[in-house]
Amino acid sequence: MGKTIGIVTSGGDAPGMNAAIRAVTRIGHAKGYQVLGFMRGWDGLLTNTYKRLTPRSVGGIIQQGGTILHTLRCPSFEQEGGTEKGAETLSINDIDGLVVIGGDGSFRGALALSQQTDASIIGVPATIDNDVYGTDETVGFDTAVNTAVGAIDKIRDTAISHERIFIVEVMGRKRGFLALEVGLCTGAEVILIPENICTLHDVARIMDENSKKGKRAGIIVAAEGIGSTSQLAADIQSQTESEVRLSILGYAQRGGSPTARSRLLASLFAEKAVDLICQGMSNKAVGLQNGTIAEVDLEMAAKNKKPIDLRLLKTAEMLST
Ligand code: F6P
Repeated sequence: MGKTIGIVTSGGDAPGMNAAIRAVTRIGHAKGYQVLGFMRGWDGLLTNTYKRLTPRSVGGIIQQGGTILHTLRCPSFEQEGGTEKGAETLSINDIDGLVVIGGDGSFRGALALSQQTDASIIGVPATIDNDVYGTDETVGFDTAVNTAVGAIDKIRDTAISHERIFIVEVMGRKRGFLALEVGLCTGAEVILIPENICTLHDVARIMDENSKKGKRAGIIVAAEGIGSTSQLAADIQSQTESEVRLSILGYAQRGGSPTARSRLLASLFAEKAVDLICQGMSNKAVGLQNGTIAEVDLEMAAKNKKPIDLRLLKTAEMLST
């Protein structure tokens, strides 16, 4: 067998994963590798289930959301002999390098696997949450931001017509990167994220002040990780004179055709990942740093918490007066 690259997509899907699969496959082939796509996240490594990817078989997928390899959340991979089994699968298939496309949980799995194998394990950050340390942006984030912005622009129309307050819940169980950027781009009157606890009293005060200024409609963008948004809607309604409605955007944010930016990032990250495998580098991730595609230490990326710029909350507040 010749030189071989494996690909796995793991954790929550993100628009642009297919663009990354396509680019790893085509660039890998151009550099003399055959490429195997492991199916259903880490499960594909546990069960040695893969499909052979060729430049032709990845045709027509750059514009598709989701992942043709399917994905799973598989926390057990790091326990009960999972990574040992994964390493065995890499060895059986003579894998020189494995490209792991996913978020922080997938990177932790990749790091654990890298400790059991000599194959190059390279992380490509892809999650709508944009919460992977070492990269300014993850594949899929831009698409999710645009999806949420498009939905909120529509919600704003009805909010203004009815002079209502809308709480719009966006994804982000642990982090508020998506909510922050979406809030800024939609002129949200309030942005609620897990990293910055805001009291009900503060939210009600801002809404009341706006109402006194003649701004009776409002958008509150809340990350899913702040707690119960339905309770929040009820509480705000009882503390203000406004009608409050809740709209949960949910999984629509995870799907859809990737934006040009998500496709570009996926393609450039993939190129760098294959490059690192060609150089025999291991335990690396790729990332965007100040506009440049960079190599990142996988352990750093997997173990550190990405900082969020809370000053942007102040910016958003000034912009929404
Ligand atoms: O990791 C991306 C994400 O969409 C989070 O924002 C969200 O909390 C979570 O996945 C939902 O996970 P699941 O797909 O397991 O329901």
